[in-house]
Amino acid sequence: MIELKRVRKVYGDKVALDELNLTIKNGTIFGFLGHNGAGKSTTIKSIVSIINPTAGEIIVDGENLAEHRQAIKERIGYVPDTPDMFLQLTADEYWILLASAYNLTEEQKNKQVAYLTRLFDIQGQENNTLESFSHGMRQKVIVIGALLSDPDIWILDEPLQGLDPQAAFDLKELMKEHARKGNTVVFSTHNLDTAQQLCDELAILKKGELIYNGTVDDLLATSPGESLETIYLRMTGRHSDEQPGS
Ligand SMILES: Nc1ncnc2c1ncn2[C@@H]1O[C@H](COP(=O)(O)OP(=O)(O)O)[C@@H](O)[C@H]1O
Ligand SMILES: [Mg+2]
Repeated sequence: MIELKRVRKVYGDKVALDELNLTIKNGTIFGFLGHNGAGKSTTIKSIVSIINPTAGEIIVDGENLAEHRQAIKERIGYVPDTPDMFLQLTADEYWILLASAYNLTEEQKNKQVAYLTRLFDIQGQENNTLESFSHGMRQKVIVIGALLSDPDIWILDEPLQGLDPQAAFDLKELMKEHARKGNTVVFSTHNLDTAQQLCDELAILKKGELIYNGTVDDLLATSPGESLETIYLRMTGRHSDEQPGS
């Protein structure tokens, strides 16, 4: 279980995240929705220890993240919000880097790479650089890297972005399977159909504030007959609705 208690992140006078309270249960797929700039990546980066919240606490299975950072990080597989990194490395060099960060043996790494490259259909590309790959191919390499250590907590920031339909389908199946085994899957998306298909629970953020937390069914029940898209767009509003100085 991941608990966020009054988590706040401020950049200068910009409030990226305002007193976020959430509980993410084990064995569930938990989705973050929200317009660009809503605070999804800020929340995710706080959970994976890339950034330190200005205030508040994050508790993972009863342990405070600030006090048990290393042990908790070892349990997390993370897909960042962009795959455009480590571009000069080949796919295999990138996986070797990740495998060494997670202390995997060469045998463990090779076994996982064989399984995941077959699943994501990128066998034979291991020695090409990330720079030479399309966005979707880079995304596959990063997703494989995140899953190499077989972590129990998956934190995936827009993981389906750029994946071809087959790879997106396969990753969604993996996410369901992982949660079914009692593990935790947290992800963000802009795709409402994906959210509806996958999420046991979701959080909708708007300008750093949580405006909904619950199941998709409960959200749909608030406005019978309306689509998730209609409800979502009404709740989140337009960027242009922002009043100057408000
Ligand atoms: N390093 C940073 N410095 C300043 N502002 C930032 C930084 N990172 C994020 N922000 C701001 O915090 C807000 C939330 O961003 P983010 O969490 O990336 O949103 P999302 O992932 O939902 O698109 C945005 O207004 C963004 O501009
Ligand atoms: Mg983001």
